[in-house]
Amino acid sequence: MRVAIFASGSGTNLQAIIDAQIKTIEIVLVFSNKSDAYAIERAKNHNLAVEVIDHKYFESREDFDSEIIRLLEPYNLDLIILAGYMRILSPVLVRAYKGKIINIHPALLPSFPGINSTRQALEYGVKYTGVTVHFVDEGVDTGPIILQSIVEIEDRDTEESVLEKIHKVEHQIYPEAIALVSSDQIELKGRRVVKKS
Ligand code: GAR
Repeated sequence: MRVAIFASGSGTNLQAIIDAQIKTIEIVLVFSNKSDAYAIERAKNHNLAVEVIDHKYFESREDFDSEIIRLLEPYNLDLIILAGYMRILSPVLVRAYKGKIINIHPALLPSFPGINSTRQALEYGVKYTGVTVHFVDEGVDTGPIILQSIVEIEDRDTEESVLEKIHKVEHQIYPEAIALVSSDQIELKGRRVVKKS
């Protein structure tokens, strides 16, 4: 599968995906909305194509996403992987790549969607949080779940220490989930993502 990876930040998940050398994907593009994202350096270090469009120059989410769609067209993508991409996708982009966008979220969805999930989880007092990889639909963090993994919150934990545990888990399960999606091993039954029998 020809894939693009979208990242806005440090790109440790991007790095984990690159390092996993998943045989069923070819990373044909790394896209960012931030020209100073460290993810871009990582992509360049691996000679991956990079494109940046800054959302600040667009009046609406739809205008920005329409420009992204124009940019992506020549890449003939089979899959878009959001890896710390901190923009909400408008329906324009979700519909253009229906069923072909996946995201990683640092919580056990449907708990704690949106931003600052780890802080939300700590403040709520949950004893377990985790990581969710899911298909992207038109809601915020509401799409069908591909894989989840649990992270325990212990009494001595801080936001930083939980985030560290979450990152470790993310770097394991995102490549795993991408391998599943890109090798045609799963299918959707209603909201449920199940292994093909
Ligand atoms: C990851 O923890 C990812 O789950 C989160 O951003 C971080 C990016 O880290 N994504 C979201 O919160 C999306 N709503 P990275 O840049 O080091 O991969």
